[in-house]
Amino acid sequence: MGSSKIMSFSFLACTLFLMSGTSLAQLTPDFYDLTCPKVIEVVGSVVKAAVLREKRMGASLLRLHFHDCFVNGCDGSILLDDTPSFRGEKTANPNVNSARGFEVIDDIKSHVERLCPGVVSCADILAIAALESVLALGGPYWRVNLGRRDSISASFDAANGNAIPPPTSSLDNLVRTFQAVGLTADDMVALAGAHTIGQARCTSFRPHVYNDTNVDPLFASLRRTNCPIPNGLGDNNLAPLDARTSNHFDNSYYNNLLINQGLLHSDMQLHSGGFTDRLVEEYGRDPIKFNVDFSAAMIKMGDISPLMGNDGEIRRNCRVPN
Ligand code: HEM
Repeated sequence: MGSSKIMSFSFLACTLFLMSGTSLAQLTPDFYDLTCPKVIEVVGSVVKAAVLREKRMGASLLRLHFHDCFVNGCDGSILLDDTPSFRGEKTANPNVNSARGFEVIDDIKSHVERLCPGVVSCADILAIAALESVLALGGPYWRVNLGRRDSISASFDAANGNAIPPPTSSLDNLVRTFQAVGLTADDMVALAGAHTIGQARCTSFRPHVYNDTNVDPLFASLRRTNCPIPNGLGDNNLAPLDARTSNHFDNSYYNNLLINQGLLHSDMQLHSGGFTDRLVEEYGRDPIKFNVDFSAAMIKMGDISPLMGNDGEIRRNCRVPN
């Protein structure tokens, strides 16, 4: 086909597409420019205050967005409370005794509802809170996409299934779970850099510091002092995911991996002789590249299967459907 034929064909396809009344809706950073122009500012101020009270909260809010997006898309489903007739995602394995920050989301939502009632979704609040958390801890900025709507339900089974990789994951499994939501292995390596902030419970890192061989021996013995065996003892004791700078968003997570000081089995999988070693080493050398790639991957993660248009709703209270 000649180039002019290709052009008139695509023009025709475009016209037919528009005439059919369908549009390929997309999230966009300016979604609330007319309806709630101050939303990012307001979310940012509540997040900053929360992080000032407790640095770890920045990590917890970032993780909420991740766990929301990986289970049936970024639709605020993780925020729904269980009821006697409904079991949502909060008590699923990856979240129970671990996901936190729900009160801060409530606080943000009530500020935002006062400002522009019924306009901003809880799913978007999670996306903005993730950005503002990273910024509050010294990390990079990205233009956060907006326009998600909230689910009217949540799935305990989906959250308990394979959607969120466990800390015992192999490299293959990590790659597969990210590919399942349209993210590449490179995206996965960049996003795992989120473990530059926050804490993990002993139950998440116990098998790694007792059984794995690719652990720095001094690091392992230090972590064992706070994480006894057998299982059940001290399960909820905490250790920093990045022992060097756990309240600062930087690239030291990758440099920890280079010296076998990743806290989780899954962390060390990224630098264990596999094809992701090269990128881990690059991020360890080049904090700017890490920031750029992390930001791009956060935008991709935030784009996972959003509800848009007339789908879902704008919840008035993030914990219950309207
Ligand atoms: C690559 C696969 C991943 C695995 C296997 C994984 C696993 C875990 C585990 C087991 C914990 C500790 C939970 C606990 O013991 O309570 C944790 C914490 C955390 N994860 Fe991940 N994670 C992964 C990717 C991500 C991604 C993509 C993000 C965000 C973009 C993220 C952000 C965090 C943060 C910030 C924390 C600390 C939360 C806090 O202190 O409250 N993780 N992760």
